[in-house]
Amino acid sequence: MAEKIERDEVSGTDTTGHEWDGIKELDTPLPRWWLYVFYATIAASVIYWVLMPAWPLVNSYTPGLLNWSDRRNVAAEMQELRAARAPMFERLAAAGAADLANDPELQQFARAAGESVFGDNCQTCHGAGGAGAPGYPVLADDVWIWGGSMADIEHTLRVGIRSSHPETRISAMPAFGRDGLLTPQQIGDVTEYVISISAANARLQSDARAAGRGAQLYQEQCAACHGDTGAGDRTQGAPSLNDDVWLYGGSRAEIRRQIELGRAGVMPSWDHRFDAGTLRALAYYVHEMGGGEPDAPAVEPASGGTAPQGTVTPTSARAPAAPADAERIDAGQDRGGEANATR
Ligand code: HEC
Ligand code: HEC
Repeated sequence: MAEKIERDEVSGTDTTGHEWDGIKELDTPLPRWWLYVFYATIAASVIYWVLMPAWPLVNSYTPGLLNWSDRRNVAAEMQELRAARAPMFERLAAAGAADLANDPELQQFARAAGESVFGDNCQTCHGAGGAGAPGYPVLADDVWIWGGSMADIEHTLRVGIRSSHPETRISAMPAFGRDGLLTPQQIGDVTEYVISISAANARLQSDARAAGRGAQLYQEQCAACHGDTGAGDRTQGAPSLNDDVWLYGGSRAEIRRQIELGRAGVMPSWDHRFDAGTLRALAYYVHEMGGGEPDAPAVEPASGGTAPQGTVTPTSARAPAAPADAERIDAGQDRGGEANATR
């Protein structure tokens, strides 16, 4: 094979002895600089193995002399961040409405923290910016089912609605159709009556005769929750029927379905998931979305902590830290096949 090594006259380099049809292969050495770089990379890799985590073992890996861990570093940075923010969250938890109203720095913090927590936890159901979805109320408007003051909102967040929290906000509209409490004809009549007392009458035009028959049914079956005039009752979470805002849709058929099924949507309780400061930030963020109402005295007779005038429900005690999965999100149950949210 390599028996005919000879010196090439033009380049002055030896040949390898390979020859194909008179073409000979030169044995040109590697450039020095290239070789040195190559050795340097080998040396660098050995140094790296020794210093840094490198080789996988059966159950772990070689940690290296520096014992470097990105995972640990991130955890430490997060811890630092949390520690740096803790005083603000504590201030927020202790702040009354007046403190918040007069403290732009605190407001800005609450808005930013609230927005971020909302994006991670609430948006799936309530939509970006609280725009709402069928079954999930719009939070950015000024129509409230359970109440729109800071204290109301915070209380809703803490206990949830038909949630597994012992003090949950709860009320159940009967399923008048599914459970056969009213005949289809009666439901038709009361649907027309509901339309007739709502702002939707302008677009849906109720059938006056049917509405007339439905009026008495309404007083018997519905007024206890929705009020004699249909103004709604926040203590029972019964929405106003006078406006043209509908939780499950505002067509004639959708309004009728609500009366047939009763829906009983579930809003999880967030008490165990967030500390008091985070809950306050969320409440502030939701309150600021557009429809926030001023805190009124004794808006929340059923709540554990009734708000004294001019202050937010006093909840400065930090909620006990609980693992994030202490309570499962139990939404989407009993929704009669309506839009459900999974997370
Ligand atoms: C799994 C779905 C779901 C998630 C997640 C969720 N909600 Fe709700 N929320 C609901 C439902 C359903 C209702 C309405 C219940 C009813 O029929 O009264 C509601 C109602 C509310 C209300 C009461 C509105 C009113 O008009 O009185 C507020 C405030 C609220 N949610 C805020 C939040 C915030 C803030 C978060 C995030 C921490 C959140 N929600 C996460 C489903 C959800
Ligand atoms: C026990 C209280 C209760 C009674 C009685 C009741 N409702 Fe309701 N109603 C509610 C609640 C609570 C809701 C909120 C949605 C839900 O949770 O189902 C609601 C929602 C509605 C809605 C949808 C409103 C919206 O804005 O989307 C309509 C329409 C309605 N009810 C009509 C009626 C009619 C008609 C009757 C009588 C035949 C009636 N309700 C009886 C509690 C009640």
